[in-house]
Amino acid sequence: MAKKLFIKTHGCQMNEYDSDKIADLMQTEEDFVLVDNEKDADLLVLNTCSIREKAQEKVFHQIGRWRKIKDVKPDIKIAIGGCVASQEGENIIKRAPAVDIVFGPQTLHKLPSLYKKEDQTLSSQVDISFPKLEKFESMPSPETSEASAFVSIIEGCNKYCSFCVVPHTRGHEVSRSVEDILNEVSALADQGVREIHFLGQNVNNFKGTFRGEKSSLARLIELTGKVENIKRIRFTTSHPHEFKDDLVDVYGKVPELVSHVHLPVQSGSDRILKLMRRRYSAEKYMNLVERILDVRPDMRFSSDFIVGFPGETDHDFEQTMNLINQVKFDESFSFIYSPRPNTPAAEMQDEIDHDIKKERLNILQNRLSQLAFDYSRKMVGTNQECLVMGVSKRDPGQLQARTICNKVVNFSSTDTSLIKQITNIHIVDALPNCLRGALQN
Ligand code: SAH
Ligand code: F3S
Repeated sequence: MAKKLFIKTHGCQMNEYDSDKIADLMQTEEDFVLVDNEKDADLLVLNTCSIREKAQEKVFHQIGRWRKIKDVKPDIKIAIGGCVASQEGENIIKRAPAVDIVFGPQTLHKLPSLYKKEDQTLSSQVDISFPKLEKFESMPSPETSEASAFVSIIEGCNKYCSFCVVPHTRGHEVSRSVEDILNEVSALADQGVREIHFLGQNVNNFKGTFRGEKSSLARLIELTGKVENIKRIRFTTSHPHEFKDDLVDVYGKVPELVSHVHLPVQSGSDRILKLMRRRYSAEKYMNLVERILDVRPDMRFSSDFIVGFPGETDHDFEQTMNLINQVKFDESFSFIYSPRPNTPAAEMQDEIDHDIKKERLNILQNRLSQLAFDYSRKMVGTNQECLVMGVSKRDPGQLQARTICNKVVNFSSTDTSLIKQITNIHIVDALPNCLRGALQN
């Protein structure tokens, strides 16, 4: 009988992608099936995130809950992967002896062998090394029934922004080859995928080879646009410093590339940007936004923001608000700064009162929600080209689709043949978190 696997994923889209790969691997190599209920599982996997302090605390709380299941069912195994695993390694087992396996983001392909070894020896296994690209060479062909799929193109990050733990947990940048990526894209297109979402911590520094020569993200996008049945291309995350001219130009060449880009700015204050080691100024960021708008006038931008970076003054914060009002970002993410181990920012004097940080976050988030809602309201009464993703989870009489800028649209229909199709939908109402639409014939 097949063994049962339960995976819980914290954090970013890269972790979601990695979790899918873990499921594929464990199914192919160890005959596991994925289950929805953790109490049924033989193996519990937690794919962790360490980007902020709270994310890390969540790991030990989750292990505590799983330990209670293990107390009743001692044969169950617990494996911890992802960025907290990479950062803490063996310490996880020291602090939580119920854990059997620890693996990192670059060693997830070793989970089947770590599992086997632990099972045979009954001694805990840890592998958090960074073997270059080995991970992708060991992957089975992707399998999905979805309309949209993530494809990782570059792993790790070399930027060392002063606040960020990613270069420490995911290692340095390594790009996959263009051929390898296009094979994955074609395999996904053959299974009905219509939207490809390229992933990496810093996708615009992609340097994968094509026919033996160093290539670029712009070239990869052009080639992906030619793959049959791929109708939409997205990418995250791009760093403003490396958004080169060829990437801007590609917006004029590849209609499949969506008119929406996530371009994290973090702050609008040059002083703070410098302390963050982001390598651009607010003016440079604005110039980039304008250059992209020249090529694609309907372009929408979203961003990540950090408030309360050490030493951030009211004036610095005002400059961030000014930038937000200038760019008019669509749905974005914002966080209170959280000191991370081994990062230079963690050594900086941080004297801002927590209440002030919370107040700034509140002001910023209110403005961002307002701007995102303005875009939604402006869409009411228009027809939008949408990709139908599936049946709405809340109402089986409705289908759920996504607009070009990735807003969710629900509309009444039971015609499941529309799923995975690009369809014109008339937007009839805007709610804070989604749109309501009606099918256009
Ligand atoms: N590669 C991306 C960022 C990945 S991390 C980039 O180019 O910027 C995702 C987001 O988490 C970051 O954009 C940042 O806004 C936030 N973040 C990272 N480290 C943080 C920290 N120490 N405290 C608070 N937020 C942080
Ligand atoms: Fe982190 Fe900066 Fe890289 S935010 S992921 S170090 S681009």
